[in-house]
Amino acid sequence: MLYPLVVLIGAASAWSLYSPTDRIIGGYSVEIEQRPFQVSILLYGEHFCGGSIIRNNVILTAAHCLVGVSKDYLKVRIGSTDRTSGGKLIAVRKTLYNENYDDATSGSDIGLIWLDEILEFNDKVGMISLPLQDETFAAGLITTVSGWGLLAFEGDLADTLQEVQIPLVDHEVCSREYRGLVNQDMICAGDDEGGKDACQMDSGGPLTAVNKQIGIVSFGYECAVPHYPGVYTNVAHFREWIENKILEDQISSRV
Ligand code: ARG
Repeated sequence: MLYPLVVLIGAASAWSLYSPTDRIIGGYSVEIEQRPFQVSILLYGEHFCGGSIIRNNVILTAAHCLVGVSKDYLKVRIGSTDRTSGGKLIAVRKTLYNENYDDATSGSDIGLIWLDEILEFNDKVGMISLPLQDETFAAGLITTVSGWGLLAFEGDLADTLQEVQIPLVDHEVCSREYRGLVNQDMICAGDDEGGKDACQMDSGGPLTAVNKQIGIVSFGYECAVPHYPGVYTNVAHFREWIENKILEDQISSRV
């Protein structure tokens, strides 16, 4: 998902000397009980994206995790702190991503997965609430992002669930930092000085604040680089889209 940033990379080759070594990046281990809505999405049996439980049979994730992927090769692991074991592996009934998703710009990077079975909620498996349509969140609000993604840029996957806390970044500031590549369908979060971020294979996972999922891990320039915050799908902009798709599925799967 770094294609839109090729321009930036060329213009800033000095960044290649910068390699963040912190752990997500700069975070810490948590138990699934603390993020019971977090799921791992597996392709050919290997973790490759995050997601979140928003209904007892629906997972929210990024469009770029679903493009060109057959549902038959996907599985969802729920209820486990460990990336490679535990919880339950569930087959996928259907996937769908936003009709406006744009691979070149990462615009409308949002998708849904319908599970083959209905989940039973317990202390390891639960839903996350969503913001209202167009609800806004102030810059500086402390958010949490989690996943089993890389612990360092081009580093290793996490074996156990990681999370990190980062403030929301002012939209104008972020848009300037990313040379206009960040639009109103996106929100940014990160520390100005870098060091804390989501990274590859955290994609599709939840950015939460005040007990709501306000973002979906979408893209960033490398990971945890100062002045290049993580960019997230602005869930509040897609609340009605989500509700409509869930409703349409309920209607069409009723016989
Ligand atoms: N697109 C990446 C993925 O597929 C996620 C990148 C998030 N990067 C970041 N610096 N926050 O996993």
